[in-house]
Amino acid sequence: MNPLYAERMKTARRSVIRELLKLTEQPNIISFAGGLPDPDTFPREFLAQVAADEIRNNPGKTLQYTTTEGKLPLREPLSRWFAEDGMRFSPDQILITSASQQGLDLIAKVFLDPGDVVLVELPTYIGAIQAFEAMQARLVGVELEDDGMDLDRLSDAIAAARRAGQTPKLIYVVPDFQNPSGVTWSEEKRRGLVEIASREDLVIVEDMPYRKLRFTGEPVPSVASLDPEGRVVVLFTFSKVLAAGLRLGALAGPREILEKVVTMKQATDLCTSSLTQRLAVRFFQDYDVEGHMRTIRDHYRMKCHAMLRALDRYMPRREGISWTKPEGGLFLWARFPDQLDTERMLPRALDHKVAYVIGAPFFVDGTGHNTMRLSFSSATTEQLEEGVRRLGQVVEEELASLRLSQRA
Ligand SMILES: Cc1ncc(COP(=O)(O)O)c(C=O)c1O
Repeated sequence: MNPLYAERMKTARRSVIRELLKLTEQPNIISFAGGLPDPDTFPREFLAQVAADEIRNNPGKTLQYTTTEGKLPLREPLSRWFAEDGMRFSPDQILITSASQQGLDLIAKVFLDPGDVVLVELPTYIGAIQAFEAMQARLVGVELEDDGMDLDRLSDAIAAARRAGQTPKLIYVVPDFQNPSGVTWSEEKRRGLVEIASREDLVIVEDMPYRKLRFTGEPVPSVASLDPEGRVVVLFTFSKVLAAGLRLGALAGPREILEKVVTMKQATDLCTSSLTQRLAVRFFQDYDVEGHMRTIRDHYRMKCHAMLRALDRYMPRREGISWTKPEGGLFLWARFPDQLDTERMLPRALDHKVAYVIGAPFFVDGTGHNTMRLSFSSATTEQLEEGVRRLGQVVEEELASLRLSQRA
Protein backbone atom coordinates (compact mmCIF):
# COMPACT_ATOMS: atom_id res chain seq x y z
CA MET A 1 0.00 0.00 0.00
CA ASN A 2 2.88 2.39 0.82
CA PRO A 3 3.53 3.63 -2.72
CA LEU A 4 -0.14 4.53 -3.04
CA TYR A 5 -0.21 7.15 -0.30
CA ALA A 6 0.02 10.80 -1.33
CA GLU A 7 3.33 12.58 -0.95
CA ARG A 8 1.85 14.78 1.81
CA MET A 9 1.29 11.79 4.07
CA LYS A 10 5.06 11.48 4.47
CA THR A 11 5.13 14.65 6.54
CA ALA A 12 1.61 14.63 8.03
CA ARG A 13 1.76 13.97 11.78
CA ARG A 14 -0.91 13.09 14.27
CA SER A 15 -1.12 15.61 17.07
CA VAL A 16 1.39 14.58 19.76
CA ILE A 17 -0.82 16.35 22.23
CA ARG A 18 -3.87 14.25 21.49
CA GLU A 19 -1.71 11.17 22.07
CA LEU A 20 -0.41 12.56 25.37
CA LEU A 21 -3.90 13.55 26.47
CA LYS A 22 -4.81 9.89 26.56
CA LEU A 23 -2.20 9.47 29.34
CA THR A 24 -3.63 12.34 31.33
CA GLU A 25 -7.22 11.14 31.22
CA GLN A 26 -6.84 8.79 34.19
CA PRO A 27 -9.07 8.91 37.24
CA ASN A 28 -7.83 11.10 40.12
CA ILE A 29 -5.57 13.15 37.89
CA ILE A 30 -6.16 16.87 38.06
CA SER A 31 -5.67 17.80 34.44
CA PHE A 32 -4.72 21.22 33.13
CA ALA A 33 -3.96 19.52 29.83
CA GLY A 34 -7.19 19.52 27.83
CA GLY A 35 -7.87 22.70 25.92
CA LEU A 36 -11.63 22.27 25.88
CA PRO A 37 -14.12 24.92 26.92
CA ASP A 38 -15.95 24.21 30.18
CA PRO A 39 -19.17 22.30 29.31
CA ASP A 40 -20.89 24.21 32.13
CA THR A 41 -20.82 27.23 29.81
CA PHE A 42 -22.91 25.50 27.11
CA PRO A 43 -26.60 26.59 27.28
CA ARG A 44 -27.89 23.04 27.05
CA GLU A 45 -31.53 23.60 28.05
CA PHE A 46 -31.90 26.33 25.46
CA LEU A 47 -30.19 24.23 22.77
CA ALA A 48 -32.33 21.17 23.59
CA GLN A 49 -35.52 23.20 23.31
CA VAL A 50 -34.71 24.98 20.07
CA ALA A 51 -33.33 21.79 18.50
CA ALA A 52 -36.61 19.99 19.16
CA ASP A 53 -38.63 22.96 17.96
CA GLU A 54 -36.57 23.45 14.79
CA ILE A 55 -36.59 19.77 13.82
CA ARG A 56 -40.31 19.42 14.41
CA ASN A 57 -41.53 22.71 13.02
CA ASN A 58 -38.90 23.84 10.57
CA PRO A 59 -37.62 20.66 8.88
CA GLY A 60 -37.14 22.28 5.48
CA LYS A 61 -34.51 24.63 6.87
CA THR A 62 -33.10 22.30 9.49
CA LEU A 63 -32.90 18.86 7.91
CA GLN A 64 -32.17 19.88 4.34
CA TYR A 65 -28.95 20.94 2.61
CA THR A 66 -28.24 24.63 2.67
CA THR A 67 -26.03 26.97 0.63
CA THR A 68 -22.24 26.62 0.76
CA GLU A 69 -21.96 30.23 1.96
CA GLY A 70 -24.21 29.46 4.92
CA LYS A 71 -27.56 30.78 6.08
CA LEU A 72 -28.13 34.51 5.65
CA PRO A 73 -30.02 34.85 8.98
CA LEU A 74 -26.80 33.69 10.62
CA ARG A 75 -24.40 35.77 8.53
CA GLU A 76 -26.41 38.92 9.29
CA PRO A 77 -26.08 38.89 13.09
CA LEU A 78 -22.45 37.83 12.69
CA SER A 79 -21.88 40.85 10.48
CA ARG A 80 -23.37 43.03 13.24
CA TRP A 81 -21.24 41.31 15.89
CA PHE A 82 -18.13 42.04 13.85
CA ALA A 83 -19.28 45.66 13.29
CA GLU A 84 -19.74 46.24 17.04
CA ASP A 85 -16.11 45.17 17.33
CA GLY A 86 -14.89 47.55 14.61
CA MET A 87 -14.75 45.05 11.73
CA ARG A 88 -16.67 45.87 8.59
CA PHE A 89 -17.70 42.62 6.90
CA SER A 90 -21.04 42.63 5.11
CA PRO A 91 -22.95 39.31 5.16
CA ASP A 92 -21.64 38.46 1.67
CA GLN A 93 -18.11 38.68 3.08
CA ILE A 94 -18.86 35.99 5.64
CA LEU A 95 -18.79 32.26 4.99
CA ILE A 96 -20.18 29.85 7.59
CA THR A 97 -17.68 27.05 8.25
CA SER A 98 -17.68 23.81 10.17
CA ALA A 99 -15.84 25.68 12.95
CA SER A 100 -12.53 27.48 12.61
CA GLN A 101 -10.45 24.37 12.03
CA GLN A 102 -12.22 24.10 8.69
CA GLY A 103 -11.44 27.76 8.05
CA LEU A 104 -7.76 26.95 8.50
CA ASP A 105 -8.00 23.97 6.18
CA LEU A 106 -9.78 25.97 3.47
CA ILE A 107 -7.34 28.88 3.66
CA ALA A 108 -4.46 26.43 3.41
CA LYS A 109 -6.03 24.84 0.33
CA VAL A 110 -6.71 28.20 -1.33
CA PHE A 111 -3.23 29.67 -0.83
CA LEU A 112 -0.56 27.05 -0.32
CA ASP A 113 1.49 25.08 -2.79
CA PRO A 114 4.18 22.70 -1.54
CA GLY A 115 7.13 24.66 -0.14
CA ASP A 116 5.27 27.96 0.28
CA VAL A 117 6.07 29.77 3.50
CA VAL A 118 3.63 30.51 6.33
CA LEU A 119 4.93 32.72 9.13
CA VAL A 120 3.62 31.67 12.52
CA GLU A 121 4.13 32.65 16.13
CA LEU A 122 6.56 30.70 18.31
CA PRO A 123 4.61 29.03 19.91
CA THR A 124 1.50 28.62 17.75
CA TYR A 125 -1.75 26.63 17.62
CA ILE A 126 -1.14 22.99 16.73
CA GLY A 127 -4.26 22.60 14.58
CA ALA A 128 -2.93 25.39 12.36
CA ILE A 129 0.43 23.64 12.05
CA GLN A 130 -1.42 20.50 10.94
CA ALA A 131 -3.60 22.33 8.42
CA PHE A 132 -0.67 24.16 6.82
CA GLU A 133 1.65 21.16 6.85
CA ALA A 134 -1.06 19.07 5.18
CA MET A 135 -0.54 21.34 2.16
CA GLN A 136 3.23 20.73 2.48
CA ALA A 137 3.89 24.34 3.41
CA ARG A 138 7.10 25.40 5.11
CA LEU A 139 6.36 26.89 8.52
CA VAL A 140 8.68 29.60 9.78
CA GLY A 141 8.37 30.54 13.43
CA VAL A 142 8.81 34.08 14.73
CA GLU A 143 9.38 34.69 18.43
CA LEU A 144 6.28 35.75 20.37
CA GLU A 145 7.02 38.42 22.98
CA ASP A 146 4.74 39.55 25.82
CA ASP A 147 2.98 41.97 23.45
CA GLY A 148 3.00 40.00 20.19
CA MET A 149 5.44 38.84 17.54
CA ASP A 150 8.92 40.32 17.35
CA LEU A 151 8.24 42.34 14.19
CA ASP A 152 11.90 42.90 13.30
CA ARG A 153 12.36 39.17 13.25
CA LEU A 154 9.21 38.82 11.19
CA SER A 155 10.62 41.16 8.53
CA ASP A 156 13.96 39.32 8.65
CA ALA A 157 12.25 35.94 8.27
CA ILE A 158 10.29 37.13 5.23
CA ALA A 159 13.45 38.53 3.66
CA ALA A 160 15.40 35.35 4.41
CA ALA A 161 12.70 33.20 2.82
CA ARG A 162 12.70 35.32 -0.34
CA ARG A 163 16.51 35.19 -0.52
CA ALA A 164 16.28 31.39 -0.32
CA GLY A 165 13.94 31.42 -3.33
CA GLN A 166 10.86 30.54 -1.27
CA THR A 167 7.45 32.18 -1.49
CA PRO A 168 6.03 33.65 1.73
CA LYS A 169 2.23 33.84 1.48
CA LEU A 170 0.48 33.92 4.83
CA ILE A 171 1.11 35.27 8.31
CA TYR A 172 -0.96 33.29 10.81
CA VAL A 173 -1.65 34.93 14.17
CA VAL A 174 -3.91 34.47 17.20
CA PRO A 175 -3.66 38.00 18.64
CA ASP A 176 -6.11 37.64 21.54
CA PHE A 177 -5.29 35.35 24.48
CA GLN A 178 -3.41 33.05 22.20
CA ASN A 179 -3.57 29.29 22.30
CA PRO A 180 -1.20 28.16 23.73
CA SER A 181 0.42 31.14 25.46
CA GLY A 182 -2.44 33.39 26.61
CA VAL A 183 -0.50 36.35 25.12
CA THR A 184 -2.38 39.35 23.66
CA TRP A 185 -0.82 41.56 21.00
CA SER A 186 -0.54 45.31 21.65
CA GLU A 187 -2.24 47.73 19.25
CA GLU A 188 1.16 49.00 18.16
CA LYS A 189 2.26 45.54 17.08
CA ARG A 190 -1.06 44.90 15.32
CA ARG A 191 -0.53 48.09 13.32
CA GLY A 192 3.04 47.07 12.60
CA LEU A 193 1.88 43.67 11.39
CA VAL A 194 -0.59 45.25 8.96
CA GLU A 195 2.19 47.50 7.60
CA ILE A 196 4.52 44.59 7.05
CA ALA A 197 1.82 42.52 5.32
CA SER A 198 1.04 45.47 3.08
CA ARG A 199 4.68 46.16 2.25
CA GLU A 200 5.38 42.50 1.56
CA ASP A 201 2.04 41.81 -0.14
CA LEU A 202 1.07 38.97 2.19
CA VAL A 203 -2.27 37.83 3.61
CA ILE A 204 -2.82 37.84 7.38
CA VAL A 205 -4.94 35.07 8.88
CA GLU A 206 -6.34 36.41 12.16
CA ASP A 207 -7.70 33.51 14.19
CA MET A 208 -9.91 34.81 17.00
CA PRO A 209 -11.57 31.93 18.87
CA TYR A 210 -11.04 33.64 22.24
CA ARG A 211 -11.54 37.30 21.35
CA LYS A 212 -15.00 37.43 22.93
CA LEU A 213 -13.58 35.94 26.14
CA ARG A 214 -11.80 39.03 27.47
CA PHE A 215 -12.34 39.00 31.23
CA THR A 216 -10.00 41.78 32.29
CA GLY A 217 -8.08 44.76 30.86
CA GLU A 218 -8.88 47.02 27.94
CA PRO A 219 -9.97 45.71 24.52
CA VAL A 220 -7.41 46.07 21.72
CA PRO A 221 -8.66 46.61 18.14
CA SER A 222 -8.60 43.49 16.01
CA VAL A 223 -5.96 43.32 13.28
CA ALA A 224 -8.76 43.22 10.67
CA SER A 225 -10.17 46.53 11.94
CA LEU A 226 -6.77 48.19 11.42
CA ASP A 227 -6.38 46.97 7.85
CA PRO A 228 -7.39 49.51 5.18
CA GLU A 229 -6.57 47.22 2.24
CA GLY A 230 -8.59 44.06 2.88
CA ARG A 231 -5.71 41.64 3.33
CA VAL A 232 -6.90 40.07 6.59
CA VAL A 233 -8.94 36.88 6.73
CA VAL A 234 -10.72 36.45 10.07
CA LEU A 235 -11.57 33.08 11.59
CA PHE A 236 -14.33 33.07 14.16
CA THR A 237 -15.87 30.11 16.00
CA PHE A 238 -18.89 29.36 18.17
CA SER A 239 -16.87 26.66 19.96
CA LYS A 240 -15.96 28.76 22.99
CA VAL A 241 -19.01 31.05 23.14
CA LEU A 242 -21.86 28.61 22.44
CA ALA A 243 -20.88 24.92 22.17
CA ALA A 244 -17.84 23.26 20.62
CA GLY A 245 -19.79 20.18 19.50
CA LEU A 246 -21.91 22.24 17.11
CA ARG A 247 -18.81 22.54 14.91
CA LEU A 248 -19.80 25.98 13.75
CA GLY A 249 -17.73 29.00 12.85
CA ALA A 250 -17.20 31.66 10.21
CA LEU A 251 -14.54 32.94 7.89
CA ALA A 252 -14.71 36.63 6.96
CA GLY A 253 -12.58 38.52 4.49
CA PRO A 254 -12.34 40.25 1.13
CA ARG A 255 -14.86 39.03 -1.48
CA GLU A 256 -12.15 37.93 -3.88
CA ILE A 257 -10.72 35.49 -1.32
CA LEU A 258 -14.19 34.39 -0.15
CA GLU A 259 -15.10 33.28 -3.67
CA LYS A 260 -12.11 30.98 -3.80
CA VAL A 261 -12.78 29.65 -0.32
CA VAL A 262 -16.39 28.85 -1.29
CA THR A 263 -15.13 26.77 -4.22
CA MET A 264 -12.86 24.78 -1.91
CA LYS A 265 -15.65 24.32 0.62
CA GLN A 266 -17.94 22.89 -2.06
CA ALA A 267 -15.38 20.17 -2.62
CA THR A 268 -14.90 19.63 1.10
CA ASP A 269 -18.43 19.30 2.52
CA LEU A 270 -20.95 21.13 0.30
CA CYS A 271 -22.29 23.05 3.27
CA THR A 272 -22.05 23.33 7.03
CA SER A 273 -24.77 21.52 9.01
CA SER A 274 -28.15 23.21 8.54
CA LEU A 275 -29.26 22.07 11.96
CA THR A 276 -26.44 23.67 13.91
CA GLN A 277 -26.70 26.83 11.83
CA ARG A 278 -30.37 27.09 12.78
CA LEU A 279 -29.46 26.65 16.45
CA ALA A 280 -27.05 29.56 16.18
CA VAL A 281 -29.69 31.65 14.36
CA ARG A 282 -32.04 31.03 17.29
CA PHE A 283 -29.22 31.85 19.73
CA PHE A 284 -29.00 35.33 18.23
CA GLN A 285 -32.80 35.70 17.93
CA ASP A 286 -34.07 34.31 21.21
CA TYR A 287 -31.27 34.15 23.75
CA ASP A 288 -29.84 36.80 26.04
CA VAL A 289 -26.54 36.74 24.18
CA GLU A 290 -24.92 39.60 26.09
CA GLY A 291 -25.95 38.12 29.44
CA HIS A 292 -24.58 34.76 28.34
CA MET A 293 -21.26 36.31 27.30
CA ARG A 294 -20.99 38.08 30.67
CA THR A 295 -21.59 34.80 32.49
CA ILE A 296 -18.90 33.00 30.49
CA ARG A 297 -16.37 35.79 31.02
CA ASP A 298 -17.07 35.86 34.77
CA HIS A 299 -16.65 32.09 34.85
CA TYR A 300 -13.23 32.08 33.17
CA ARG A 301 -12.05 35.16 35.09
CA MET A 302 -12.72 33.37 38.36
CA LYS A 303 -10.86 30.27 37.18
CA CYS A 304 -7.91 32.14 35.76
CA HIS A 305 -7.50 34.14 38.94
CA ALA A 306 -7.68 30.98 41.04
CA MET A 307 -4.86 29.46 38.98
CA LEU A 308 -2.76 32.64 39.13
CA ARG A 309 -3.21 32.86 42.91
CA ALA A 310 -2.16 29.23 43.28
CA LEU A 311 0.90 29.75 41.05
CA ASP A 312 1.97 32.73 43.17
CA ARG A 313 1.62 30.61 46.23
CA TYR A 314 3.04 27.26 45.19
CA MET A 315 5.38 27.63 42.23
CA PRO A 316 9.05 27.75 43.31
CA ARG A 317 10.48 31.28 43.04
CA ARG A 318 13.57 30.65 40.99
CA GLU A 319 15.29 32.44 38.18
CA GLY A 320 13.98 31.15 34.86
CA ILE A 321 10.50 30.32 36.14
CA SER A 322 7.72 32.59 34.89
CA TRP A 323 4.19 32.45 33.58
CA THR A 324 1.85 34.64 31.57
CA LYS A 325 -1.09 36.53 33.09
CA PRO A 326 -3.78 36.30 30.44
CA GLU A 327 -6.56 38.86 30.12
CA GLY A 328 -8.94 36.34 28.58
CA GLY A 329 -9.19 32.92 26.98
CA LEU A 330 -8.56 29.53 28.52
CA PHE A 331 -4.80 29.15 28.90
CA LEU A 332 -1.68 30.35 30.52
CA TRP A 333 1.86 29.47 29.69
CA ALA A 334 4.74 28.64 31.98
CA ARG A 335 8.47 28.74 31.32
CA PHE A 336 11.19 26.96 33.26
CA PRO A 337 14.98 27.01 33.31
CA ASP A 338 16.51 25.65 30.09
CA GLN A 339 17.59 22.35 31.57
CA LEU A 340 14.06 21.43 32.69
CA ASP A 341 12.38 19.40 29.94
CA THR A 342 8.63 19.33 30.53
CA GLU A 343 8.20 16.13 28.51
CA ARG A 344 10.76 14.33 30.67
CA MET A 345 9.04 15.72 33.76
CA LEU A 346 5.55 14.52 32.73
CA PRO A 347 5.77 11.02 34.29
CA ARG A 348 6.70 12.65 37.62
CA ALA A 349 3.66 14.92 37.29
CA LEU A 350 1.41 11.95 36.52
CA ASP A 351 2.80 10.18 39.61
CA HIS A 352 1.70 13.23 41.59
CA LYS A 353 -1.68 13.06 39.82
CA VAL A 354 -1.45 16.33 37.96
CA ALA A 355 -1.19 16.88 34.18
CA TYR A 356 -0.27 19.64 31.76
CA VAL A 357 0.49 19.94 28.06
CA ILE A 358 4.14 19.93 27.07
CA GLY A 359 5.24 23.04 25.18
CA ALA A 360 7.55 21.73 22.45
CA PRO A 361 4.89 20.63 19.89
CA PHE A 362 3.67 24.24 19.68
CA PHE A 363 7.10 25.39 18.40
CA VAL A 364 7.74 24.83 14.69
CA ASP A 365 11.50 25.35 15.19
CA GLY A 366 11.99 22.42 17.58
CA THR A 367 12.51 24.57 20.70
CA GLY A 368 10.21 25.09 23.69
CA HIS A 369 11.22 21.99 25.68
CA ASN A 370 11.22 24.02 28.89
CA THR A 371 7.62 25.27 28.52
CA MET A 372 4.11 24.04 29.25
CA ARG A 373 0.51 25.07 28.66
CA LEU A 374 -1.86 25.15 31.60
CA SER A 375 -5.58 25.28 30.91
CA PHE A 376 -7.74 26.69 33.68
CA SER A 377 -11.04 26.10 31.90
CA SER A 378 -12.30 22.76 33.14
CA ALA A 379 -10.95 22.28 36.68
CA THR A 380 -12.94 23.42 39.73
CA THR A 381 -11.43 26.17 41.91
CA GLU A 382 -10.45 23.53 44.50
CA GLN A 383 -8.78 21.44 41.80
CA LEU A 384 -6.98 24.51 40.47
CA GLU A 385 -5.49 25.15 43.90
CA GLU A 386 -4.63 21.53 44.65
CA GLY A 387 -3.34 20.81 41.11
CA VAL A 388 -1.00 23.79 41.13
CA ARG A 389 0.21 22.81 44.61
CA ARG A 390 1.12 19.38 43.23
CA LEU A 391 2.72 20.94 40.17
CA GLY A 392 4.87 23.20 42.34
CA GLN A 393 6.10 20.12 44.17
CA VAL A 394 6.79 18.31 40.89
CA VAL A 395 8.89 21.23 39.61
CA GLU A 396 10.75 21.46 42.91
CA GLU A 397 11.61 17.74 42.79
CA GLU A 398 12.57 17.86 39.12
CA LEU A 399 14.94 20.79 39.68
CA ALA A 400 16.48 19.01 42.67
CA SER A 401 17.05 15.83 40.64
CA LEU A 402 18.59 17.85 37.79
CA ARG A 403 21.00 19.47 40.27
CA LEU A 404 21.94 16.06 41.62
CA SER A 405 22.56 14.61 38.17
CA GLN A 406 24.67 17.66 37.26
CA ARG A 407 26.83 17.13 40.32
CA ALA A 408 27.22 13.39 39.69
C1 LIG B 1 -6.33 29.16 18.01
C2 LIG B 1 -7.35 28.15 17.66
N1 LIG B 1 -7.81 28.10 16.41
C3 LIG B 1 -8.74 27.22 16.03
C4 LIG B 1 -9.25 26.29 16.93
C5 LIG B 1 -10.24 25.31 16.42
O1 LIG B 1 -11.44 25.40 17.04
P1 LIG B 1 -12.81 25.05 16.33
O2 LIG B 1 -12.51 24.22 15.12
O3 LIG B 1 -13.57 24.32 17.37
O4 LIG B 1 -13.41 26.36 15.98
C6 LIG B 1 -8.80 26.30 18.26
C7 LIG B 1 -9.30 25.30 19.20
O5 LIG B 1 -8.87 25.14 20.30
C8 LIG B 1 -7.83 27.26 18.62
O6 LIG B 1 -7.35 27.32 19.86
